[in-house]
Amino acid sequence: MRGNILGERFVVVSFGESHGRCVGVVVDGCPAGLKIEVEDLQRELDLRRPSNTLISTTRREEDKVEILSGIFGGYTTGAPICALVWNRDVRSEDYEVIKDKPRPSHADYYARVKYGGFNDYRGGGRFSGRITAGFVIAGAIAKKLLLETLGIEVIAYAIEIAGVRASGFTLEEARKSRYLNEVRAPTKEAAEEMKRKIIEARERGDSVGGIVECTATNLPIGLGEPVFDTLDGDLAKALMAIPGARGVEFGAGFKAATMTGSQHNDPLILRDGVITSEKNDAGGIVGGMSTGMPLVVRVAFKPPSSISLKQKTVDLKAIREVEFSVPGRHDPCIVPRAVPVVESMVAIILADHAIRAGFIPPVLKPRDSGSGDPRQHL
Ligand SMILES: Cc1cc2nc3c(=O)[nH]c(=O)nc-3n(C[C@H](O)[C@H](O)[C@H](O)COP(=O)(O)O)c2cc1C
Repeated sequence: MRGNILGERFVVVSFGESHGRCVGVVVDGCPAGLKIEVEDLQRELDLRRPSNTLISTTRREEDKVEILSGIFGGYTTGAPICALVWNRDVRSEDYEVIKDKPRPSHADYYARVKYGGFNDYRGGGRFSGRITAGFVIAGAIAKKLLLETLGIEVIAYAIEIAGVRASGFTLEEARKSRYLNEVRAPTKEAAEEMKRKIIEARERGDSVGGIVECTATNLPIGLGEPVFDTLDGDLAKALMAIPGARGVEFGAGFKAATMTGSQHNDPLILRDGVITSEKNDAGGIVGGMSTGMPLVVRVAFKPPSSISLKQKTVDLKAIREVEFSVPGRHDPCIVPRAVPVVESMVAIILADHAIRAGFIPPVLKPRDSGSGDPRQHL
């Protein structure tokens, strides 16, 4: 029943449940010598917290990160890093009803069957969006590692919510604007319209879906290990682990199926003597390897399943169909809170592959080597 470990060399172990004591992560394989302050992790976690009660859940968690191991004197030591946040604003009584009345399109019923009724169902347990707090902690470490060693920057934003699509922006504008609005959109205009749609859905007791786009720049050529550990394959696996994710596409994505070869091909060109491609419909990955062009990946999120409108389910005690509306506090749209989570998953996979391909060494820069470089004594 394993399934909580991601990565080969930058290894992430996720633990915790929505209404258990904590959620967190162990990161094993992070090189020694990376400067990490608790604020580096906290800043990212704060971006994942619910922003505003009109567009997100009213559950209020402080999400103060605690680092338990692996960082000493402000630097990673090379030992496993364990970090977590405590669960405090828990109202488990809201969830007594779902014990025997599984919520439609949640994992409640299927987990009960799979784990023989032993699973922690409170607040969705292991299947809750809350576990992504751990993903974001690991992602913050990966992002810092990528930026400081290779200058790789990972930037995500809400490109679409409830059918409202943001357009006409540059990556630089997206980077600046996305955290200036609550829905994490790349433009102010799109943000206002998206927010309106979320509030309307919430007022109707319903929810809406959308798409997060993520771009990573400065990738070297050759991240990804064909044929089974390809970069796109591993990214898709990590991104599909985010609760509520329904699809992943790279570059032109599903639109490629309607294009001709001459439209879709990215011609190779020389720019200032460097081989590159004229455009990037591949989204920065060909043959499972990074091409050196920006990585462009999009993740579709479903409308959250917890809605206050009445729905049908089966009462598992009485074995009869009943109508109920989902209790508890919920996000009417996952997308705004998923933006830092998508960034994190992309960074984790890029860090893993950068270490695998030898672009990042096990020690970033020796602080001191005692009586000399130990390799000289070999
Ligand atoms: C940050 C975040 C917050 C979420 N909040 C909610 C929520 O409030 N209500 C809800 O129904 N689903 C929410 N989800 C999604 C559910 O956890 C998810 O849909 C459910 O566990 C079933 O898994 P699946 O959709 O991946 O199949 C959230 C997901 C994330 C990433």
